[in-house]
Amino acid sequence: MKTFQEYLDIVNQTIAAIPYPAAPSQLYEPISYHMALGGKRVRPVLTLMACDAMGGDPAVAINAAVGLEMFHNFTLLHDDVMDNADVRRGKTTVHRRWNDNTAILSGDTMLTIATQYIARTMSWPVMELFNKTAIEIYEGQQLDMDYERRNDVTVDEYVNMIRLKTSVLLGCALKTGALIAGSSDEDADVLYQAGVNMGLAFQLRDDVLDVWGDPVTFGKEIGGDIMNNKKTFLLINAMQMVQGDDADELRRWLNDPYASRDDKVPAVTALYERMGVRQLAEEAITRYNDSAIAAFNHLKMSDEDKAAFITLANRLAGRHF
Ligand code: IPE
Ligand code: IPE
Ligand code: MG
Ligand code: MG
Ligand code: MG
Repeated sequence: MKTFQEYLDIVNQTIAAIPYPAAPSQLYEPISYHMALGGKRVRPVLTLMACDAMGGDPAVAINAAVGLEMFHNFTLLHDDVMDNADVRRGKTTVHRRWNDNTAILSGDTMLTIATQYIARTMSWPVMELFNKTAIEIYEGQQLDMDYERRNDVTVDEYVNMIRLKTSVLLGCALKTGALIAGSSDEDADVLYQAGVNMGLAFQLRDDVLDVWGDPVTFGKEIGGDIMNNKKTFLLINAMQMVQGDDADELRRWLNDPYASRDDKVPAVTALYERMGVRQLAEEAITRYNDSAIAAFNHLKMSDEDKAAFITLANRLAGRHF
């Protein structure tokens, strides 16, 4: 198997060579702007790695890999509108640099370009998996929005929501590579499960970094989830444990739509720190990452290939990128 960097180079070169029409520039410029911002490109690399590990030719999986990355980027354009986010990958988000209509329509175009790339695989099972995954992601994003307005969200509901909005795409990326390689259904499904568990650890880490991350490496504004009353693992656990004056304070922040960022984010962060909810999140991340590693270990592939997947899972769970 190649290294992460070698797969990444292939993905980056292919994405950089995507031809966008010149006009209407208001439609295509935001797409090339956003795609040029890069990001970790984890999903397409997973597709190429899975294809290779399952005995396929990764060159055949490149269209599907690029399609999945284009799809992921489409979800980010719309997500940043829904989350009212100003910064993505250290740069101004598309809806702020242009406007909401641009983010909607350029995003729609990216979704269709993604579908074109995936269709070029000419594999019905890959297409079915992609469409099923896309709808699950929209369901997860809707639950994420619904939960902003609810104060009785449970940890189980949260885990199901992040499974849908984030994890199934990592599972899909791995399974797509396996399907293209012609692996057994059983192996493809074990890879899918590995991806889902990896994705749960990944989204929990994202929630932790949204509070305690370094904005330069995280590439997003710190405290976005706190400002939106996102029912993250941290907030749900804090709401369940909080007592006395802290409970009154948390309730005030959750019910104050005019609270400034400079006041609310440090105050809620301090509350999280007093309650020790970060430790609970770290334990959950370790649990899901361990499940992902167990799934990779269960597969019939070379020790070297297993080690490559496990190293990547550990990096994603720790977000050491
Ligand atoms: C961001 O995904 C959305 C989440 C699922 C947390 P990534 O963290 O993979 O974003 P990029 O593509 O690397 O910027
Ligand atoms: C994003 O979750 C999931 C999707 C884009 C489908 P977040 O809203 O937590 O992602 P970030 O933090 O904005 O990247
Ligand atoms: Mg967001
Ligand atoms: Mg979101
Ligand atoms: Mg986030």
